[in-house]
Amino acid sequence: MEEIKVFCPATIANVSCGFDVLGLALDAVGDDMIVRKISKKGIFISKITGQDLPLETSKNVSGVAGLALLEKSNYDGGFEIEIDKKIKPGSGIGSSAASSAGAVWAMNELLGKPFSNMELVQFAMQGEKLASDVAHADNVAPALYGGFTLVRSYEPLDIIPLPTPEELFATVIHPQIEVKTSDSRKILKTNITLEKGIKQWGNLGGLVAGLFQSDYDLIGRSLQDHIVEPIRSILIPAFDDIKLNATKAGALGSGISGSGPSIFALSKGEATAKKVAESMHKTYQSIGIPFDIHISKVNTQGVKRLS
Ligand code: HSE
Repeated sequence: MEEIKVFCPATIANVSCGFDVLGLALDAVGDDMIVRKISKKGIFISKITGQDLPLETSKNVSGVAGLALLEKSNYDGGFEIEIDKKIKPGSGIGSSAASSAGAVWAMNELLGKPFSNMELVQFAMQGEKLASDVAHADNVAPALYGGFTLVRSYEPLDIIPLPTPEELFATVIHPQIEVKTSDSRKILKTNITLEKGIKQWGNLGGLVAGLFQSDYDLIGRSLQDHIVEPIRSILIPAFDDIKLNATKAGALGSGISGSGPSIFALSKGEATAKKVAESMHKTYQSIGIPFDIHISKVNTQGVKRLS
């Protein structure tokens, strides 16, 4: 195989109680990417459509992630990349992760799969480092593994794939304002109280148990963030109203998607996810900020081959 076209999924990181450790992949939103083998050594980004992003390898997350893979590989040639970018940078649904994960996944396929998913996460994390100054894995891990993933540890890296309850749907509203992950990390406090820690790890354990047991009520009760959401939500217009109305529409729970400004809600069943989308639409209509709304099943496959 000399060339591959892949779908690179958008992702929801943190999922309320799992700052930097929990994430899930989406099915309905993502970028397309073509990667082809070339004889010249290196990574060359020849085309980006959809968004205005740098083609220069060292300034593009897919370039940097690809270089990390090339460095560990004994392949003599290089890769050319074309990206059709549908996820806006700074949207909070893993734009940089989609490009980083998609690039390394595609390269691994073209090379005959010499690397494990965990190694691919490590390469893709270099793209995240370029985008946000921090090599967090909570977007790239679900993008590569599919479904929900838990980063149990960063050093050494330990990714735990979690089960996805069959009827779980996500609704995501993306207000068209840009919030840079690097900026929204700077406003966070570096210390937390023991009281908040107890609440947070109680909910994280509850959410993981809820996923294993397909216990939708438990998932809903656990979608709480006592540490990051109270600080970051001030950057997101009508955040409290969106949450309140999503709950009224039947959502299990909701929170900030990644570092925002997108807000996600999880629901049992597509019909409820659609009602939640309507409530988000109504809430945002009067605000005057353009927005997109996505309804998606959880993508249990991660990056996938299109052709
Ligand atoms: N865990 C990261 C953050 C995700 O919240 O900063 C960024 O998408």
